[in-house]
Amino acid sequence: MRICFLSAEYSPFAKTGGLGDVAAALPRHLARRGHDVRTFIPLHGQMDLRGVDLHPVDFLQGLKVRVGHHDMLYSVHTARVPGSDLWVYLIDCPALFDRPRIYSDAHDEHVRYLMLTRAAFECCQRMSFAPQIVHANDWHTAFAPLLLRTAYAWDKACFGGAKSVFTIHNIGYQGVFSAGQAGDLAPGVGVEALHQDDLAAGRVNPMRHGVIHADAVTTVSPTYAAEIRTPEGGHGLDANLRARGTAVSGILNGVDYEEWNPATDRYIPHRYDASSLAGKARNKEALLDLLRMHSPPATPLVGMVSRLTRQKGLDLLYDTLPEVLERDAVRLVVLGSGEHHYEHFLHDLQQRFPGRVVFYSGYSEELAHFIEAAADIFLMPSLYEPCGLNQMYSLKYGTVPIVRRTGGLADSVRHFDPTTGSGTGVVFNDFDAGGVRWALATALEWYGWPSVWRRLVLNGMAEDFSWEKQIGDYESLYEGLVGTRE
Ligand code: ADP
Ligand code: GLC
Repeated sequence: MRICFLSAEYSPFAKTGGLGDVAAALPRHLARRGHDVRTFIPLHGQMDLRGVDLHPVDFLQGLKVRVGHHDMLYSVHTARVPGSDLWVYLIDCPALFDRPRIYSDAHDEHVRYLMLTRAAFECCQRMSFAPQIVHANDWHTAFAPLLLRTAYAWDKACFGGAKSVFTIHNIGYQGVFSAGQAGDLAPGVGVEALHQDDLAAGRVNPMRHGVIHADAVTTVSPTYAAEIRTPEGGHGLDANLRARGTAVSGILNGVDYEEWNPATDRYIPHRYDASSLAGKARNKEALLDLLRMHSPPATPLVGMVSRLTRQKGLDLLYDTLPEVLERDAVRLVVLGSGEHHYEHFLHDLQQRFPGRVVFYSGYSEELAHFIEAAADIFLMPSLYEPCGLNQMYSLKYGTVPIVRRTGGLADSVRHFDPTTGSGTGVVFNDFDAGGVRWALATALEWYGWPSVWRRLVLNGMAEDFSWEKQIGDYESLYEGLVGTRE
């Protein structure tokens, strides 16, 4: 199948979270299955492209595309995806993408990604690449299905056979902008094509248009697909999602085990697998050494790697973490960046428990892998979680996840039962301090029984969330759409 894939992030070139991981892995695995996938991403100014095999596409230089009332100048480069034969198309539009961060609060944030979407379509035209599937991801490229039905509908040769898929990675970010900027959808998309109630209320909601106009809407786990149809989980889009009926489905993300595998991980000092857990213990010692956390190796180490936002459940930790640290011999290492009040709390915690709590504020791919390998327990008490990747990485690394029963966490971690020895982690239900307190106490209790703990660790390591397993669901979805032409 010919697939045009659109994303704001793409690991390792540009990543703030799981979207980057998924947008890189899914096309790569589709390509391996023999599909012709063309992935389009922005050439973000802050990308580190040293050592990347980057080439200008000679017939895609010095182009312009109209977005609203402005002609945006751009050129296209291709970059070889590290470790594969796949190439990704980078849209180089310095006026919009040469900025310090991938996302911002700038007044033209929506224009940046409308430009990406339009430029990708125009590249398809210039390359005579007629996609059968246009796969858009999150609010950034959510106008793609509407653009196909309006501005690009005239081009039957290129887009006449295209079906659109819109994947919601996180419904908490919808990209809303003011109705006064509705003209930025032009040319070819008049205000009459936009959601009228939103317009009347003074706004335009990109994600709502993706939900309404895509031929199929997916999200990244079955449980999250059910949650977003409810008023509590839908962030205002639940009615639109319910109206789409069976066009909405959930496909659990896969894990890229080429990147996230303790037996081959290039970022960790000691490689290991389920048959050689001594390597895991050595990683723990090495990390404790590096962070100057001097403690007997038997003391449990709790890790977190996270965007520091409300979604990730940090509000539950204000009381519980100090309590647990006062009471139990436990160490905590947190890697993350985000909202100021959470950073402040974690800095305070580090000062209050010197040598027992380390907070690394920032972004580090290397440290993220090292923490997965070194920690005994991984804490992920999310308020909501569309899929979540870190709990699946943790399972592979023998690091027992503590998760709340929500979204993809509920679909990927099974609560352990010490009497039967089945299960892979600690799962709590209620989003309150009592829930997380119980979960931490339970994990620490099991940690105290080496044979029980070993069973739990090995159960997790035996789980398989590989893309090889998940890719079939995307293929079936695409095939179903392509087979049902109007
Ligand atoms: P989300 O996409 O909501 O942030 P996921 O669990 O799906 O949550 O994916 C998070 C991804 O981002 C993981 O690959 C994780 O390792 C990575 N990540 C998050 N914060 C950091 C950080 N501060 N440094 C390095 N990697 C991070
Ligand atoms: C989002 C979600 C996360 C998911 C990721 C990749 O950022 O918050 O749960 O794993 O996208 O789909």
